[in-house]
Formats: sequence, structure tokens, C-alpha cells
Amino acid sequence: MLDLEEARTLLAEHGQEHVLRNYGILSDSEKESLLRQIEALDFELIESVKCHEKQKTGKVEPIQFVDIDNIRENKVDYKRSGMEVLDDGRFACVLLAGGMGTRLGLDKPKGELNYGITETHYLFQKLVENLIQVRNEAKGASIPLFIMTSEKNDQETRKFFQENDFFGYPSEDVFFFIQEMAAAVDYNGKLLMEEPGRLATSPNGNGGWFSSLVRAGYLEELHSRNTEWINIFSVDNPLQKMADPVFIGATIANGADSGSKVVRKAYPEEKMGVMCLEDGRSSVIEYYELSDEMRNATDDNGTLLYGFGVILNYIFKLDKLEELLSKKLPCHIVEKKIQYVDDKNQLISPEEPNGYKFETLAVDVIRLMDYCVPFEVERQREFAPIKNLHGKDSLDSARELLELNGEKL
Ligand code: UTP
Repeated sequence: MLDLEEARTLLAEHGQEHVLRNYGILSDSEKESLLRQIEALDFELIESVKCHEKQKTGKVEPIQFVDIDNIRENKVDYKRSGMEVLDDGRFACVLLAGGMGTRLGLDKPKGELNYGITETHYLFQKLVENLIQVRNEAKGASIPLFIMTSEKNDQETRKFFQENDFFGYPSEDVFFFIQEMAAAVDYNGKLLMEEPGRLATSPNGNGGWFSSLVRAGYLEELHSRNTEWINIFSVDNPLQKMADPVFIGATIANGADSGSKVVRKAYPEEKMGVMCLEDGRSSVIEYYELSDEMRNATDDNGTLLYGFGVILNYIFKLDKLEELLSKKLPCHIVEKKIQYVDDKNQLISPEEPNGYKFETLAVDVIRLMDYCVPFEVERQREFAPIKNLHGKDSLDSARELLELNGEKL
């Protein structure tokens, strides 16, 4: 670990001396933990805020889809081949639950949200129940469930699962791992402090899930189970269908090393990342990167050419992920509201964004794969994201969709 002098020199080299301004009044353990935080800083990244440019988009073209008609026609074959993978236990799931859910304003892990009205229905519970359904169909073969948490919610998440008997999932098939944290800076590139002796940090985005899983030592577990495919999915969609044999089968039938569930956009301007080809490779283009012309372009049948949005449910071949381990994902610099202590050590909770966080994103993994199959699912059956309390993609809209799917709330 760095000693105080080394930390001082390092910070001075990068104009961040203020980080040690309270060092003298910290306890021994606070001093040690601050020095560890300083040692782990990636200054190259932090300094990139001063000259950050948006990544350039390559040549964008429409991509071929496995749409609902294709799925209807080939369902039996797709399902048979997907079921073989599940029956053999060659499949694992990763629940991405390290996010902060700031838009929901919860002070606990997002998966602990109770979306019920008169009954209790936790997001974590519903996701596990959805997985149990498939598991029962797959002759009860084991499907390990890895849950990515962050430093901020790990203990609480584990406790919640234990207190609820893992919602009926075999506990020997549930594994938790922690994603890394990243520092945050103000608009001048100065590191923010969340406590007098602690740098402000937050989870580093959902893109680093595989390297965090490996760092936690779970590659061996996956190999010992002969895992071939991994399904990642978000915590905030209670209609999420994971380990879907038809989806697995369609991806295999297309000779691909990954697949993405997609839904038809509700309208051209909808704010969703859509699948496309970028420089000939499967990719996701963000809504703000599409020109008006592209946003509204249709084929002869009137279908939007860039009209299939990703819903954070992807499958990947494990061997390909391992091959890509040494590749660095691009880091996105995102404006956020960041709590911090000011010069007088007063805690400030800004109402407006006041700085930048650094995040890697799961969609960037798609760009690294050889080919990702866009697999269309029925929006009303599989997509009820809860990002806000009210309005679009909210608790209110998810409740409506859950009721439409026969759920008693
Ligand atoms: P979001 O992009 O909606 O982020 O996450 P969030 O942190 O949950 O919510 P806001 O933006 O603060 O309101 C999409 C999925 O990725 C996971 C989330 O838990 C969710 O399942 N995620 C996000 C992580 O696992 N780690 C992260 O660092 C960020």
C-alpha cells in the first residue's frame, strides 16, 4: 500500500492534493482506507474528462432480425436445441444488480422493490420465480444464478436472499460477486469526497460484469459445470424471461456467439438503443446517435429499419468471453448528481448534475462479439422496465403490464 508521502506526491502530480486535506483528523482505519482508495485510482481515466470526445460511430446499416414470424415458424426446432443446452446444465445466469437505482430514489437494492399493491411482490422474488419456471421445464437441471452486487448493496442483497430462503431457489446454485467501484469528479476534473476521509465512488457500470465474475474466482465453477452459455439480464424488469430455450436455440441456429432479446420500438423517437450493423459488425446504436432520417426509415412493409430496441437480456458463449477478457471496454463519462462534502465538510446533495462518473456498459460487449442475433420478443409479455416511479418505464406502467399478464398485485 502507498504511504502518506507517496500518496501526497501522486496526488500533487495530478492536481488532486485536496483529497488529503482532512487526513490529520482521520482514524487509523479511515487513513488506511483512504490510502487504498488513492492507490486504486486510474488517473489516466480521470484526466480523460478534460478532453473527452464522444466515440465515433462507424458506418451504420440495418441488421437482419429473427422476428416473431420466424420464431413462430421455427419454434419447435429452436426450442429443442435450446432445451438440450438447459437439460445438460450447460447454461448459467447472471443477474446485474449492482446499480444504484437513483431514478427510483430507493435507499435499498433495486431488487428489493415491492411492486405489489395489496400483496408483496419483490423484484428479486419475481426474477427467481421466472427462472424456477424454466428450471422445472428443463428436467430440473441446475442453472447457476450469479448475482452481481456492488460494495454499496452487497451485504444487504445477500441478507435479503438469505432471509427469504432464496425465494425457493437452491442456495447451492446462487453465487454473489461484487463489481468494482469508480471515483467521481466535478466539472473541473477534481475528485469529489463523499466523507471527509473518503473519495466519492459509485459502481463502475454494468459492462465489467464478466471480469468481476472472473476476479471473484467463479471461472472454475463455470468450467466444472461445463457451462457453455451465459445469460445476463437486468434487475428492473419483472417480465424478464431468462434461460429461454427458444432464444438459445435461435442463437445457435444462426451460428452466433451471442444473442440479444429485442422489442419493437413503440414509436420512432422512443429513447432506446437499437440493434444495427456498424462497420459490418453487430452493434447497438443509441437513440441520440440516429439521424432523423434513419430514425424514420422503413422497409417495403413499413417496418422501421432501426426499430428493434435492446432490453438488457443477452446471451454469450463463455469461450468467446474468455477470449475477450484482455480487451478493455470503452469507458463512458456520464454527467450525474453526485453527493459530496464541501470545503467545510458539509454534505451536499445536489438537485442538478454536478460532475462526472465513469461507467462501462454491457452493450459494448456486443460490439466485441463476432455476431449477435437480435431475437424479437413480444413487448407486452417481456418488457416492463421500472426506471422511475411514475410515467414511462415506471412502477405504474410495469404494474399495468403485470396485470395484463395475469399477475395479481
Ligand atoms: P441502469 O442503467 O438502469 O442503472 O441499470 P441503475 O444504476 O440501476 O439506475 P439509475 O440509472 O441510477 O437510475 C440497468 C441494469 O444494470 C445494472 C442495474 O442494477 C440494472 O439491472 N447495473 C447498472 C449494474 O449492475 N451495475 C452498474 O454499475 C450499473
